[in-house]
Amino acid sequence: MYIKNKKLIIAIDGPAGSGKSTIAEKLSELLHIFHLNSGALYRIIGLYLNQQGISPKDLEKVETALQEIDIEIKDNKYFLNGKDVTEEIKTLEAGKLASAFSQNPSIRKKVNEIIKDVSKSIDIVVDGRDIGTVVLPNSDLKIFLTATLEERARRRWKELKVKGENVSYQEILNEIYERDNADSKRSIAPLKPAKDALIIDTTNKSIQEVVEEILSILRRKEINGNKSF
Ligand code: DC
Repeated sequence: MYIKNKKLIIAIDGPAGSGKSTIAEKLSELLHIFHLNSGALYRIIGLYLNQQGISPKDLEKVETALQEIDIEIKDNKYFLNGKDVTEEIKTLEAGKLASAFSQNPSIRKKVNEIIKDVSKSIDIVVDGRDIGTVVLPNSDLKIFLTATLEERARRRWKELKVKGENVSYQEILNEIYERDNADSKRSIAPLKPAKDALIIDTTNKSIQEVVEEILSILRRKEINGNKSF
């Protein structure tokens, strides 16, 4: 069905280390569309509120402090109140904070508003946990990436080692296991595939293979009358 002015939306959901952000980034480059990493938004907010000494459970303080947060995204860089925090939010600690703070409904509301707002005006690939299920259920394509816990931990461990974080594989494995549990068992917007999502197991696949698979799905799918992917 053709809807005038409807923008292209690709949702890529999945657990930590499934390859969402990397794959979304590659797709956005190849399709020349915007990439929004929703996990980065939770990480920025978690980092800021934690720096202010605010707990995710303190609903009133969170609500007030959220008004002080201005997030900007430029050339794949994330800015918190004017400061580039792109690297700072990639740490293990920032991931833990994001998972804890993402349970707070006001924070989810704020992140969802940002995503919905951006998706109205530009073609976009968004990665996260609940994009296809809750935030943008009208996405043109929904992909849910998975991989074994061990493989996801290996990927994260390598990434963090390259960045100079001194963490053991076992520590990452435990952290991802706990984050999977927290993200999929929470009452609001738990991590799960949308009914109409295509599930891709990336365990034994290269980034290029997964990107190719998604591109070929896009080519087969007629989206808004556009077959030129
Ligand atoms: O994708 P990530 O590791 O950067 O996400 C960090 C945390 O943010 C994740 O553990 C849960 C939360 N998150 C979420 O609740 N919903 C999203 N759409 C994206 C992330």
